[in-house]
Amino acid sequence: MAAVPTDRHARTVVLPLLAVAAATLLLAPCPAAAETSAERGYRLLLTLPLVPPTLTEAEYFDLWQVWPEPQRAAAAAAPPAERRRMLLERYGFQETPDRPGPIPQQFTPDGKGNLSENCLSCHGGPVGGKVIRGLGNSLIDLATFYEDVAALRAERGIPAVPWPEGVPPAPESPVRGPNNAWGGAIALLLLRDGNADRTDTLQFPAPTPEQMFLPTKTPAFWLSKRKTRYYADAFIGKSHRDIMQFIASFAYSGEQIRALEEPFRDIYAWINAVEAPPYPGPVDPALVQRGRLVYLRDCVACHGIADSYPERVIPVAEVGTDPVRATDMPRDFKLHLGEGWFGENGATPLYPDTGGYVAQPLDGVWATAPYLHNGSVPTMWDLLTPSERPKIWSRSDAGYDLARLGVEATAHAEMPADLTDPAERRRYYRTDLRGFGNQGHAYPPAGLPDADKRALIEFLKTL
Ligand code: HEC
Ligand code: HEC
Repeated sequence: MAAVPTDRHARTVVLPLLAVAAATLLLAPCPAAAETSAERGYRLLLTLPLVPPTLTEAEYFDLWQVWPEPQRAAAAAAPPAERRRMLLERYGFQETPDRPGPIPQQFTPDGKGNLSENCLSCHGGPVGGKVIRGLGNSLIDLATFYEDVAALRAERGIPAVPWPEGVPPAPESPVRGPNNAWGGAIALLLLRDGNADRTDTLQFPAPTPEQMFLPTKTPAFWLSKRKTRYYADAFIGKSHRDIMQFIASFAYSGEQIRALEEPFRDIYAWINAVEAPPYPGPVDPALVQRGRLVYLRDCVACHGIADSYPERVIPVAEVGTDPVRATDMPRDFKLHLGEGWFGENGATPLYPDTGGYVAQPLDGVWATAPYLHNGSVPTMWDLLTPSERPKIWSRSDAGYDLARLGVEATAHAEMPADLTDPAERRRYYRTDLRGFGNQGHAYPPAGLPDADKRALIEFLKTL
């Protein structure tokens, strides 16, 4: 393979079409006996609304009407298919071959014209322009989406649903990709008692504004099967119950949440059945062999290999990556989650004080860029070259950099001064923002010669 160029644009290619199982037709009624629990789980994600409606289908397709110019005029003039594409692009949504039609995989329709945001809003994403089942969505921009929904409704005189009194706000992320799912979950759990019933009194002390903003990248679901514990700091044992916290909408009764337990057993089965996607390009076998030796020397102790996964949690002070996610999540939230219904009343193991980050399995790591728990490093080459990681960067939506292994990114010396549309500003990753630092993970500490980096990257493609 050719040398990795110093110019990060030079060898970017768009990935070849990944094989997509032709027309899985998940909407077609399946004979119950033929469907496994995991298959049912994935079908349910796309067909069963798990939260109250987020917006109507008509509202979704009208969102362009509140865009700033010139995007609004361009959308107004565009044919319907092109306008659909513009909607997907603005919010980081995708249509999926698994559910043909114009509704993005991020939403589940109820058949009455309403759309409910689903788990795939963050947990369904593309690489190189192709949707991969179970990949975290590194393009998602929920801040822009919710701002546009609010603007459209304001224009139409539809009153906003009030945020419950006493619950601190959970801001959306100012950068695409990493999201504040935790701020949302913490807000929801503040008003759920130990039986998952809705209350009006805070169930643990109100977190500070800092504790309500814990930007995190969405991990790939295919890592789940290797793990015994979930989340970047591995604070709780994995179970179908603890992922139900994400549907504990303020509008739901406890009964409505508990009634969804059976579907969640299937969804959990699917999450643990998802397979890592094989690398779609050619690899150089001799270089892979060399890279394997580098991996066995410098990486395997923490990340493991194949079925031998040590699930090590490395203290923040040692790994040195951005500390916010590991240190600022309210301990009271973790205890409340673990002790209540979502933690099977204490039966799910809880590790509230890990103070570090788990070294993920690296299966399918070619597809999970940008890297680290906050998605701050666009390529593997950058990860292996700490002193040269870009401080401000933007990326293309569909380009993939096969040489550096990661997203096709451009480094910037500073934020462009003339960007007024917040949606455009969110396309710039700014590592100076709290929670978005790109430091740390300098392994091996002395660094690797470029030839070793190239070999290691070739090996990582095969995981
Ligand atoms: C707003 C975005 C968002 C939505 C919606 C969302 N998640 Fe997540 N999810 C995340 C993020 C971000 C993480 C990583 C959190 C961390 O590591 O601390 C995560 C982590 C997880 C994990 C743990 C994975 C691991 O390897 O540690 C599971 C399982 C999961 N989510 C399931 C779900 C399910 C099921 C739903 C739907 C009910 C859902 N999520 C909805 C963003 C989201
Ligand atoms: C001392 C333990 C340790 C060693 C050695 C180590 N890592 Fe890591 N690695 C971690 C931890 C902990 C994280 C999570 C850090 C974070 O996300 O903030 C991580 C994260 C990563 C990620 C990010 C995964 C993703 O999808 O975002 C990659 C890629 C990675 N490591 C590759 C490597 C490679 C390649 C090597 C060998 C050169 C290596 N690591 C050596 C502990 C280690």
